[in-house]
Amino acid sequence: MTLLSVQDLVTEFAGPSGTARAVDGVSFDIQPGEIFGIVGESGCGKSATCRSILRLFGGADARIAGGSIRLDGAGDLAAMPERALGHIRGRDVAFIFQDPLTALNPTMRVGRQIAEVIKRHRRVSWREARAMALQLLRDVHVTSPERRLDAWPHELSGGLRQRIVIAMALALQPRLIIADEPTTALDVTVQDQILRLLMERRAASGTAIILVTHDLGVVSEVCDRVAVMYGGRFVETGTTAEVLDRPRHPYTRALLAALPSRAMRGQPLTPIEGTPPSLTAPPPGCRFAPRCPRAEDVCSAGPPPPLMAHEAAAPRHLDACLLEGMR
Ligand SMILES: Nc1ncnc2c1ncn2[C@@H]1O[C@H](COP(=O)(O)OP(=O)(O)OP(=O)(O)O)[C@@H](O)[C@H]1O
Ligand SMILES: [Mg+2]
Repeated sequence: MTLLSVQDLVTEFAGPSGTARAVDGVSFDIQPGEIFGIVGESGCGKSATCRSILRLFGGADARIAGGSIRLDGAGDLAAMPERALGHIRGRDVAFIFQDPLTALNPTMRVGRQIAEVIKRHRRVSWREARAMALQLLRDVHVTSPERRLDAWPHELSGGLRQRIVIAMALALQPRLIIADEPTTALDVTVQDQILRLLMERRAASGTAIILVTHDLGVVSEVCDRVAVMYGGRFVETGTTAEVLDRPRHPYTRALLAALPSRAMRGQPLTPIEGTPPSLTAPPPGCRFAPRCPRAEDVCSAGPPPPLMAHEAAAPRHLDACLLEGMR
């Protein structure tokens, strides 16, 4: 059974300098209990991909311009009216944002916020919801959980706040958690604890996770499969081992080469020479061609190449390099 199937997703942001196609024909499947990573440089469309799933665009002038987002048992989220999608949010699919402060309401005590999430979807009393909130804080290993229920968000450290956000995400036992750089704002030790917590939840309840990160070290430790995103498109997908140990697309290779050492966690990616493509007027052909050390004339012509399997022995390891296909 496939839990989530995204096909040919296109998402556009309207802006003063034109329409940016932040997601341009992205497809992927998520199986139950799977941790799927999305990596790529800043501005390549990772958050736009994630936000499209629940249409959480935070007030930006954005729209899904094409494709489908099928959630098992719920139909196509992309075609679903806002009201119906509201029932899916939090209950079936939960979202964890990068900055735990913006995800929490500063004017509400922590326990009350968690209880409200529960009350919104379940017919339980406040007393029951509070008891459930307490259990959730225990589940995410918050120390002195009774006391924390009455804390204000600003009284807590960044790591504790992110645990609270995760507790809220877990509150309704979603089948899928979308975590958009959940640890970027945290220091490395706390990052590890939070990632371990997500993996623990996967093991305990089979929750699938989409994990967006800049950090290939995080991918290698946590993800079952990974997608490398560039200029609004996926350029390589496969198991973590396939993509990180046998990268095919020159962009993936460049990302890996930019890492000081694979063993070094918490390192930001060193930028690759050149600038990422415009999403308002992307270059023809492969979007990486203008920066690619291997590019030939064919690479800059025609539509961007699609993801394809290039080895019979690795049918699910896909890449979008034309030259790879011509080898
Ligand atoms: N609020 C917005 N208004 C207009 N355009 C936007 C907005 N958010 C994103 N975009 C467009 O979508 C593109 C992709 O943005 P997105 O936030 O998905 O990138 P990202 O890969 O998540 O980057 P980062 O690693 O910095 O979080 C941007 O380059 C920009 O063109
Ligand atoms: Mg982002």
